[in-house]
Formats: sequence, C-alpha cells, structure tokens
Amino acid sequence: VNQSKTTAVVERVRTMIADGVLREGDPLPSTRAMAAELGIARGTVVAAYEQLDGEGWIRTRHGAAARVATRAPGTDIARREVPDSAPGPRPRAVSGTPRGGALIDLRPGIPAVTAIAARDWRSAWRAAADLPFRNALADPMGTRDLREQIAAQLGLTRGFAPHPDRVIITAGTSEAMSLITEALPGSPVLAVENPGYRSGRRAISSAGGTLAGVPVDEDGMDLARIPTGVDAIVVTPTHQYPLGSVMPIARRLELLDLAAARGTIVVEDDYDSEFRHRGDPLPALAALDNRGSVVHVGTFSKVLDPRLRCGWIVAPPGGSFADALRTAREARGPVVAEPVQAAVAHLLRTGALRRHLGRVRRDYAHKRSRIAARVAELGDLGLEARALSGGLHAVLTWPGPPSPAEVLRRLEDRGFLLADLARYAVTPDTALPGIVLGYGAASAVDLDRALDVLAEVLRAPAAPRSPE
Ligand SMILES: Cc1ncc(COP(=O)(O)O)c(C=O)c1O
Repeated sequence: VNQSKTTAVVERVRTMIADGVLREGDPLPSTRAMAAELGIARGTVVAAYEQLDGEGWIRTRHGAAARVATRAPGTDIARREVPDSAPGPRPRAVSGTPRGGALIDLRPGIPAVTAIAARDWRSAWRAAADLPFRNALADPMGTRDLREQIAAQLGLTRGFAPHPDRVIITAGTSEAMSLITEALPGSPVLAVENPGYRSGRRAISSAGGTLAGVPVDEDGMDLARIPTGVDAIVVTPTHQYPLGSVMPIARRLELLDLAAARGTIVVEDDYDSEFRHRGDPLPALAALDNRGSVVHVGTFSKVLDPRLRCGWIVAPPGGSFADALRTAREARGPVVAEPVQAAVAHLLRTGALRRHLGRVRRDYAHKRSRIAARVAELGDLGLEARALSGGLHAVLTWPGPPSPAEVLRRLEDRGFLLADLARYAVTPDTALPGIVLGYGAASAVDLDRALDVLAEVLRAPAAPRSPE
C-alpha cells in the first residue's frame, strides 16, 4: 500500500465532505471503482477508507457501500454531556441554532475520541474481558502491566525511562493533583500557573492545598514571581494551558535549580506532549532532573478518552516525597478499575494507541491550519490565535469591544459554545480577555462555521441580540 497515495485519497474525501460536496449518508464509490478511476491499487483505496472510517468521516460495512458518516468526526461527542474539565455552563437549547437546536460544543477538553479504530478498541476490551479471575485485591499503585507499558512509552517519547515501580496509576491528572497535595506535609501552598487548568486547581483546593497564582509569559511560568515558601510548583512546560507557551530549556533548568535551592518539588503536568505540532519536542522536565525534584504527571484523557479516568504519576526515584506519595496512594486505595487498566495496557502494547495518535495528529494539524488560515484572513479585525503550536485548542483574542462575554453570548445564540479565557484565571482580577476554542472533537465544517460567525459578530459589534 502506497502511503502517500493513501493520504491523498483520504485528503480528497475529507475535503469533499468538509466542503459539503459529499453529504451525510451519501454512498462512496466502491473501492474497485475508485481505484480504477484514480488509476491506483485497490489496496490503497481500502487503506484510505479504513483510515477515514477510523477518523469517523465515513462508515464502512462488509458487503455494503461505504457511506459518509451521519456526522463529521467527533461532533457526536461534542454534543454529548459536557465533561467537568470544560469550564462554563452546560449547553442549553437556544432557538435559531443550527441542526435543530443542538449547541455545538467547541470548548476545550474533548479530544477526537471517536477516531480510534473500532477493531483496536474492541480488541482492547476483549483483552480486558479475558483477564483471569483471581481472588485478590487490586494493587493501589496500579497493575504491573500498565505501569510497565507507561514506563516503556515514556522512554520512547519523553526522554526518560523510569523504573515501573516509580509509576503510580491515578484517575487522571485531577486525581493526581489531589494525591500530590495530600502527600505534601502540613498545610501546603502550591504555586500554579495563572491562567491555568481549573480542574487541577479545584483538586488541589479540595485536598486542602492553598493556591498561589503565578503569572505566565511567552516562556511559561514567570519564575521571578513565585512567592517564597511554596511547597510545590505546578507547571505545564510542554504547552502552557491555556495560553500555549513552551518553556525553553534555559527556563526549565532555572526552574529545577530554583526548586533544588528551595527544597520544593516541581509537578510537571505533561497533559498534551503528544500533540506538539511545531518545533522539536523538548525533553520532559523529568528527563532533565537529576536531583529528584520532579513529579511527572500524565493522562490518557487527551490521547484517548477523558471518560477513562486514567492517568499516572512518576514519583521521584527516591526520597521522602516519593514515600509520601505511595502512602497517600495506599490510603486512598485503587481508583482505576483493573479492566480499564488492562484495556489501556493492551492499546499501548499492541501499538494501537500510536496508530491512533498518528491519525488524530494529522486530523488536528489539518484543523489547526484551517483555523490559522481563517484567523489570518480576519487580520483586519485584529483577531489573533494563540496556543496553536500544540494541544487541541486555540486562544482567540481581538482588540475589544465587543467584550469576550458579549461575543460568547452571541456565538451561543448562533449555536456555538466556546469558553471564556477569564475562567482560567486564578482570581477574577487577573482575568485576561479572550475566548478559547477547542478543536479536538470538532468537525472541520463546524470550525469553519464557528469562525464565520465569530467574524460576523466582530464586524458588527453594535448589532442587537438576535431574537429568541
Ligand atoms: C492542563 C491539563 N492537564 C490535564 C488535563 C486532563 O485532566 P484529567 O486527566 O483529569 O482528565 C487537562 C484537560 O483538559 C488539562 O487541560
């Protein structure tokens, strides 16, 4: 199978769907007919159709014509229940919205979940079902199998290969933050990025931690602004959430020196390192650390599905904090069901997760360039997109008015739900103006429409609220 020809077929069909040439339910030519028409091998078309099916653009069934999926990729997920990580109100029906009143959820936090190849997903759950019954309690640290798979994966992709004993399974990043807070002595104060990840902050507060918001600049957390006396420094160095800055090597080393000098730990939230779109991936902080200061936190929420509630902590190689983390994990007990761990381990072991990532990376790259191109066209409005170097969201800013709240309200009237950048602020007085657009689960068509509506809203700042 010729990969570049496969990609060309995939692009061609995607564009036809995105442009509305092919519509929901339309049949595609048979693989034989398509191959003959394009003068390429049938296997190439089969591979392209499989990929398109995996991405959710089309549905293939044995013995029947492939058809354009009822909805473009991800939109069924986007319209589902809103996860806690997506800040803001739950969708409500608004009259005059496209497609029968359903709001299109373009808030960040939902990846292209449906792009996973159905056969890989099923085989992972079959593997979980085939686990032998045994009379034993679950290990609070997580299954050996999953911890080994994660350790191996980190060695391949993040530049450090921890011993599997250092890996502790968590119910996602948010639970990791609670656990870390509990493991810190006394009433801990944690420095967090401002703006930053809300669910993480909530988890820290509910575990009894006090938050100290630290401003971020184009290089990530502004180290000079970290107050003295903090017990931990929580950062997203790969892709600051939500503004998107990448912490350069010099600042990473400076942060590690500062942590060692002050005797504090550094918590590295590596939530979307798999999705660097531009530039070389930088080594994880944990890969640069030789003093045992870094606690590395990862999640399957962005690469697979946030509903799995599965993530991990890599504890420092030794020391009292590593011991305290294990004690806290023991005390809380196991949180991720063993069959879930088995299914995820299977996806890692068989390479299914890497194949999935290969597909979604292309899909995200495609959507990102559409956003960048559309925003560039709207340069006369002063519209700017940030955070597009990685991740699954963009931060959109313009020299107001209208205010972000007003723009969001009018976008919602037209059927699109985006997030207010102000909600990521640690304190209301530090809020920055802007809106956040999540494109992980969005279809290209919905993204284009949302940006068209945004342009209309920005071009007519004085327009009255549309009638309800
Ligand atoms: C900065 C950051 N970390 C982690 C996560 C994932 O959290 P969890 O693993 O709890 O689903 C997100 C999700 O939006 C995030 O934005």
